Amino acid sequence: MKNCILFTTKHGSTEKAALLLKEKFKAEADIINLKEIKNPDISKYDTVILGASIYMGKIQKRMRKFIEENMNELLKKNIALFIMAGQKEKAQETLRNAFPTALFEHALAKEYFGYEMILEKMNFIEKAATKAQGVIESRSEILYETIEKMAHRINKL
Ligand SMILES: Cc1cc2nc3c(=O)[nH]c(=O)nc-3n(C[C@H](O)[C@H](O)[C@H](O)COP(=O)(O)O)c2cc1C
Repeated sequence: MKNCILFTTKHGSTEKAALLLKEKFKAEADIINLKEIKNPDISKYDTVILGASIYMGKIQKRMRKFIEENMNELLKKNIALFIMAGQKEKAQETLRNAFPTALFEHALAKEYFGYEMILEKMNFIEKAATKAQGVIESRSEILYETIEKMAHRINKL
């Protein structure tokens, strides 16, 4: 049983969540940043977990492209999906809209893992947009129990 976590991130919170998830797996897992390895070979994995963060309502283009190009193969695997997103109250709707319907419905687990907003990591425009939303200091709300719940589901496979 081999697991792979593929992720995209802009400021690192999705990577942090991906590493926390990997720590909870019983089986061996590879972890791949799609910015570094653009089209990894997923043929050797039984389970693929896709994680991405939300900017302007969407996951990163790199992740969308990867899914589009590998959809047939992804649909043959155990799939789990997660997002990081600042708007907690809209998180389930955002999660639902973040991935193509076929993949979302095929996935055995799909979760919202919380968010981080670290002002020092943002550029001037991002910082201004964040402050305009009322966030005036850095925040971290990673949902550790939800990460554990997904790991538990995958460990049962
Ligand atoms: C410029 C900007 C735009 C964002 N847009 C959204 C959004 O549309 N919806 C949302 O729920 N969160 C939004 N967020 C919050 C991010 O999704 C959140 O900070 C996430 O943890 C970032 O993950 P990353 O560090 O892996 O890139 C935005 C954050 C920034 C800085």
